Amino acid sequence: MSLAKSLKRNPRQLAADVLARLEVRDLCDAVEVAGAGFLNFRIRAEMLCGQVTDAARGGHLFFTHCPNPRTIVVDFSSPNVAKPMHVGHIRSTVLGDCLNRVLRLLGHRVITDNHIGDWGTQFGKLLVGWKSNLDRAKLDSDPIGEMERIYKLVNAASEADPAVMNAARQELVKLQAGDAENLAIWREMIALSQRQFDAIYSRLGVRFDHALGESFYNSKLKPVVSELEASGLAKDSEGAKAVFFDDVPELKAHPALVQKSDGAANYTTTDLATLQYRIENWKPDEIIYVTDGRQQLHFKQLFAIFRRWHPEIKARLVHVWFGSILGEDGKPFKTRSGETVKLDELLDEAQERALAVVSQKNPDLDDQSKREIARIIGIGAVKYADLLPNRQSDYVFSWDKMLALSGNTAPYLQYAYTRTRGILRKAGEDGVPWTNSMETCVELKTEPELSLAKHLLNFGLVLEMVASEYRPNYLCNYLYDLAAHFARFFEQCPVLKAEPAERASRLALCDVTGRALKEGLQILGIETSERM
Ligand code: ARG
Repeated sequence: MSLAKSLKRNPRQLAADVLARLEVRDLCDAVEVAGAGFLNFRIRAEMLCGQVTDAARGGHLFFTHCPNPRTIVVDFSSPNVAKPMHVGHIRSTVLGDCLNRVLRLLGHRVITDNHIGDWGTQFGKLLVGWKSNLDRAKLDSDPIGEMERIYKLVNAASEADPAVMNAARQELVKLQAGDAENLAIWREMIALSQRQFDAIYSRLGVRFDHALGESFYNSKLKPVVSELEASGLAKDSEGAKAVFFDDVPELKAHPALVQKSDGAANYTTTDLATLQYRIENWKPDEIIYVTDGRQQLHFKQLFAIFRRWHPEIKARLVHVWFGSILGEDGKPFKTRSGETVKLDELLDEAQERALAVVSQKNPDLDDQSKREIARIIGIGAVKYADLLPNRQSDYVFSWDKMLALSGNTAPYLQYAYTRTRGILRKAGEDGVPWTNSMETCVELKTEPELSLAKHLLNFGLVLEMVASEYRPNYLCNYLYDLAAHFARFFEQCPVLKAEPAERASRLALCDVTGRALKEGLQILGIETSERM
C-alpha cells in the first residue's frame, strides 16, 4: 500500500506486478491478489514438513548464524563496591546477560565487561568508618552489610559535624594520592565486595569476560581532559571544565562536566576513558550499555562528546535502558521496613516460595530433588518477571504472579518443557522405539500440528528481533505462544495412541518443540528440569 502511494499507482495493479515477478513456488502455494491490493501467501505443507523434519534430524533449530558477525561489547550489571546489589542491578544483570546470550547464539563476537563502581567520593567516608568503627566479626560474616553500616554511620555524622566531613575529605585525598594504608583498605573493600557479587553471579549463572572497574581508568583521566581541552571541546566553566552542546537542542541546557572545580574527574570522564580503552583494545563494531533509565542524559552526553572527540570512529553506541521495579503499592520496590530489597535475600525468598509450590504439587519427590527444582523455578521466575515487560516500562513485582503455573510465567514454560520430555520418556517406557534419527519424518496433517510447526519456523526471526532491538520480551512472548500451540496440539492430537508412522512424527514434533523451548529459555538465562 505504501509503495503504491509513493509510486502513485493503483495498488491492485502494483500487487499484480509484484506477483508476476515473485519466485516463491518452493515455499508457497499459489499467491493471490486480494482486496484493495493485498498479497496472500499460503505456506506449502511440504515445505513446513521438510523444515521440521530437518530440525528433528538435528540439522538446525530454526535459526541460522548471522552472515556478517560483529564484535559487540556489552557493559552490564556494574554494581558499586561496599554497597549491596539491589533489585535495580538485577534488571541490568538479567537483561545484559540475555543480550549477551542471544548475540553469541547468532554468531557475534561478544565481549562482556562489568564496569564496577570501585572509585569515588564514597571511599572517604568508608575509610573514616573503617578506621574508627569497624566490627571485624561482622565484616567476616556479612562484609557488604558491615561496610554499608559504617558508611551510613559516617554519612549521618558528617551531616551533623563538619569535622567528620573534613576527615572524610582528607582520607579521600590520601587515597587518591596513593597512601599505602588507605590503598590497602580500599583493596580489601573491593575484594570483599567482589566475593559477594560473585556469589550472586554464580546463583544467577552469569559470567563476565572482564571486570574492569572505574578505578582501572584512573591514570587515563587526566589525558582525556587535556585532549578535550586541546581540541577545544572542553571549556572553563566557573573553575570546572565542561563540554557545551549549543548545536544539540536536547542537550543545549545540559553541559557535561568533565572535571570538577577541585580538579577531580567524574563519572563522565571515567566513561570517556573507558570508551576509548574499549575502542583501542577490542575494536568493537558496537558497544551496548545496560542501565537504569535515569542515566539517559549521561549516555546522551557521553556519546555526543565521543562523536566530536573521535569522529573517525564509527562504532555504534547504544544505551539500552530500563524502567524501575515497583512494589504492589506502585511505589519503588522496598522491604516492609522501607529498606531497599537486597538481591540475595530476594533470590532466597524466590527459592523458598517455589519450594512450597513444588512440595504441594509433587509431595513424593525426595528432598534434594525438590530443592533443586525449587531453585530452578524460583530463580527462573524472578528472571522472567524482569524480562517479560517491555524493558522501558516500570513493572510491579508480584510473587504470586511470577510463580503461577499458568499464565505467561517461567514456571508455565518450564512445565511445558517437562511435558515434552515426559511424553518421550513415556514412549520409551511403553517400548516405543523413538530416537531422532535420519529416518525421522514429520508429517503435518491436522490444524494444531500445522500451527505449531508454523510457529516453530519463526524462532530465528524472533531471536533476530531480540538482538536488533535489544528486547528479550519478544522472546518471552514467542515462547509463551509456543507453549500454547503445543498445549493445543497435545490436547487434540493423540501421540502414543496414534498409528506407528503418525506416532513417530508426533513424537518428533514434541522433541523439537521441547528443544526450542529449552534453547529459548536458555537464551533468557533460565534453566529447565526434566520433571517438575
Ligand atoms: N555503577 C553504575 C551504577 O550502579 C553503573 C555503571 C554503568 N556502566 C557505565 N559504563 N557507566 O549506577
